[in-house]
Amino acid sequence: MKILIIGSGGREHALAWSFSRSPRVSKVYCAPGNAGIAELATLVELEVFDHEALAALVRAEGIDLTVIGPEAPLSQGIVDYFRDQRLRIFGPTRRAAALESSKVFMKDLLAKYQIPSAAYAVFAEREQAVNYLDSLNFPVVIKADGLAAGKGVIIVANRTEALAALDLIMTERAFGDAGCRVVIEEFLPGEEVSFVAFADGKTVLPLPSSQDHKAIYDGDRGPNTGGMGAYSPAPALTPEIERQVMTKIMYPTMAAMAAEGRPYQGVLYAGLMIKDGEAKVLEFNCRFGDPETQPLLMRLRSDLSEVIEAVIDQRLEKISLDIDPRPAVCVVMASEGYPGSYTIAHEITGLDATAKLAGVKIFHGGTRREKGQVVTAGGRVLGITALAETLPAAIDRAYQATAVISWPGCYYRRDIGRKALDRSATC
Ligand code: AMP
Ligand code: GLY
Repeated sequence: MKILIIGSGGREHALAWSFSRSPRVSKVYCAPGNAGIAELATLVELEVFDHEALAALVRAEGIDLTVIGPEAPLSQGIVDYFRDQRLRIFGPTRRAAALESSKVFMKDLLAKYQIPSAAYAVFAEREQAVNYLDSLNFPVVIKADGLAAGKGVIIVANRTEALAALDLIMTERAFGDAGCRVVIEEFLPGEEVSFVAFADGKTVLPLPSSQDHKAIYDGDRGPNTGGMGAYSPAPALTPEIERQVMTKIMYPTMAAMAAEGRPYQGVLYAGLMIKDGEAKVLEFNCRFGDPETQPLLMRLRSDLSEVIEAVIDQRLEKISLDIDPRPAVCVVMASEGYPGSYTIAHEITGLDATAKLAGVKIFHGGTRREKGQVVTAGGRVLGITALAETLPAAIDRAYQATAVISWPGCYYRRDIGRKALDRSATC
């Protein structure tokens, strides 16, 4: 079969790599892709929002299946558009993708169906939001309703910071219309875990647990990013908590979406906060995580194309996942300045020297080829992903590669996976 991947990040490179290993897949296309994906797939210069041109490509090339990486095309209805034309596509419809694209929708749904999450209130008027602050104990979390590339969530320690956050979101409209409404939410302490599952509307089939590292600096300090590294499994998600997540969160959410006339098919990714043996939902994403997908797909031995087709055909109950028991870790190498402004077009060295390291995959994010050289083209540039017998060995392997790869202004966290090591040291 022929598969089209839409997107251009490390997640999409990992998807292309996974599909390229399948005997069922004869050809992979990617729009628009990056320099790493170009080694495995035919790149097509189309934007992720150009639904019409993408559908025309699918028809012209006889592509059997389209898989979407990022949330934006999903929230703009690419799945609805393809389905209307009887083109096979993996992901939720626009109305189902509201689980990620509107935090107000998500919070109201969880409250209505008593799915565990933080206490919250919603405001469309700044003044009412300000009045509400008087009744709160800080810290609290202020969230823009709509999509804001992971930047629309601000944890505030006091009233002054809260007012600044409300100004940024509601008055300055730093995230555009995403800031028409805000959610003000109780701050949940604990340890965060990513719970990524396939959902076909009837069955939920989880991938192993993973943990992202959202903050830019070591020790989880500094502003949030799209994710600076990830590892799988995440020991914070014990088998007992996983059972609880499936029965109290994942299945109830899928049922709630069906009851609301928004049946959910695709990847259902819950960002969870775990505390005292209890999991609460921080957010839902309606797609694979980036960078969680890189270690997860390195551990997935099953044929991803088969699993995805089972979701589309609603026969997930017949599938079980074959997972490599070895842990995997991904260290993101980024452009200095990210998640703020940064420069691009720097030549990356060390890629050839690390390409053949055993157990290591270099997944590209923001890269492109210029005059035969691979150069930087985005904030998160590479995801160095390693698999090994133990987590410390996987971490060592990944950092052996990061030590060789370089470009002017390259930055990465030095503590990816440390939380899991600290945990096993104290257990
Ligand atoms: P979200 O996009 O809603 O997941 O928020 C982004 C990040 O902000 C999360 O990954 C958490 O690290 C943090 N966060 C969001 N909501 C809360 C909360 N209620 N309590 C503590 N941290 C939160
Ligand atoms: N790594 C977080 C996300 O994909 O949203």
